[in-house]
Amino acid sequence: MSWLNRGILSIRVYNSWSRLVTFNSQVRFLSGFVNHTEQDVDYFKKILGTSGVKQEELDGYNTDWLRSVTGKSKLALFPKTSSELSSILAYCNDRLIPIVVQGGNTSLVSGSVPDNDEIILSLTKMNSIDKFNESTGVLQCQSGCILETLESYVNERGYMMPYDLGAKGSCQIGGNVASNAGGIRYIKYGSLHGSILGLEAVLPNGQILDMMSTLRKDNTGYDLKQLFIGSEGTLGVISRVSILCPIKPSTRMVTLLGVPRFNDIIQIMSTVRKTLSPYLSAFEMMDALTVDAVSTNLGLSIPFTSPFYVLFELSLSDDCDQDHITSQLHSLLENLMEQTIVSDGTISTDLSSVNKLWSIRERIAEALLADGFCYKYDVSLEHEHYYDLVEVMRERLRSTSAHRICGYGHIGDNNLHLTVTTLKRDDDAELKSLIEPFVFEYIRDHKGSISAEHGLGMKKRNHIYYSKSPQVVNLMKQIKSMFDPKGILNPKKMLPDN
Ligand code: FAD
Ligand code: LAC
Ligand code: ZN
Repeated sequence: MSWLNRGILSIRVYNSWSRLVTFNSQVRFLSGFVNHTEQDVDYFKKILGTSGVKQEELDGYNTDWLRSVTGKSKLALFPKTSSELSSILAYCNDRLIPIVVQGGNTSLVSGSVPDNDEIILSLTKMNSIDKFNESTGVLQCQSGCILETLESYVNERGYMMPYDLGAKGSCQIGGNVASNAGGIRYIKYGSLHGSILGLEAVLPNGQILDMMSTLRKDNTGYDLKQLFIGSEGTLGVISRVSILCPIKPSTRMVTLLGVPRFNDIIQIMSTVRKTLSPYLSAFEMMDALTVDAVSTNLGLSIPFTSPFYVLFELSLSDDCDQDHITSQLHSLLENLMEQTIVSDGTISTDLSSVNKLWSIRERIAEALLADGFCYKYDVSLEHEHYYDLVEVMRERLRSTSAHRICGYGHIGDNNLHLTVTTLKRDDDAELKSLIEPFVFEYIRDHKGSISAEHGLGMKKRNHIYYSKSPQVVNLMKQIKSMFDPKGILNPKKMLPDN
């Protein structure tokens, strides 16, 4: 077969509220938040104007992307500048009004929606691009810029964003940084802890911390910006970001392979890495049930059927010998086919086919949600245990209301997305009790992480001890109480109750 272009492609004291304080180095929880009043709303209107204050039609802001949590917020605020943000935060901090920070609201762990009726602080209007240095590729922008908008902006200037994810049309760079998003380019460009050169954050007391460096090297004291990366909005609100963008490749060569046996995926990855590692910019796997959701629920065309699929991308620049790399790829794949490791495949380099192939992978979360309800587990596991978790779960959930138990993910980074779907629209407590805590115990016993890239949010926060020791969690709580002593920012997110 030919490998080339096979043609695809409110004042009330809350009983349930609590806030963190440090007392004799012990972290304790106290209650005492208040609900906002109409006088508070008037104050916010003075700062933001009427267009920056929303009191109606808040369903979309109260509901998470997975439609699994619905908050009761009656107020959303939309600052446009760091100074407006600072005024709001200082005011809420003085008045003890809790806030949830919201970017694109694509969190898969209910991190961006209210637990109760916190004020929603949306960064949507903080969406201006400040500067782009065409020699160094350093982009400076406000935190509410949408990832896809930034991607197009830097693409036009010969650069690309160092990360990419299926939610790019809605998620914001501030949300990405706050959740230390991973995605499909992680294998080549690494974590945002490396690409983020600087940021500006506004603390709950209104203090604006300017750490907007554009330099790659700066060892002057603690690198405090790192604390905000992955802090899930619990320490401060990220208002601006400075990020290093790599040069955009001239050609993206995307290969989709059919693989009969899971264990062979590890061998394929190793072979591709050994031969083509300088160019490898993504390496993903999907099982048949995952791909079936994309085909059945979204109607996307899949070039061939297989028990497992591998999707990988090579990023080629003008100065590399593209013909030589192409022929290396072809002979590598022919070899894998001869060994019956690979059963089918297609390679694409033209943009439309490349995008079609990537749609199969990028629209998985949407396709799975279309089944009805999703239980999502985003885990890190060593490759020898990686897919066992899916099989163990299938066995365990046999004869239950589970409709689809599937696995896909960024296997190049040991990151598996185990998903269980049902045909209902609501949580099924009985099914959930069979999944949790079993899944977390399995991951702990196999030295994995219970959250590889989505964070803990509201959903996973009380399970943190499966991946972190009590001493480490206690230090996290002390850091939280230092940055946010009154605990107004993102209550019930990331940190556990006890
Ligand atoms: P939100 O969902 O609004 O918020 C996420 C967290 O960050 C919340 O705790 C919120 O309070 C906080 N936050 C938001 N903005 C700020 C700010 N400016 N300052 C401080 N805190 C803030 N994640 C991955 O890692 N890899 C993937 O491949 C991936 N793919 C996805 C695909 C789909 C279809 C979907 C729906 C989600 C995916 N996600 C993925 C999950 C999610 O982490 C990312 O979509 C994204 O990083 C969240 O950005 P957001 O702007 O939507 O943030
Ligand atoms: C993905 C999300 C779910 O990789 O992280 O599709
Ligand atoms: Zn992912």
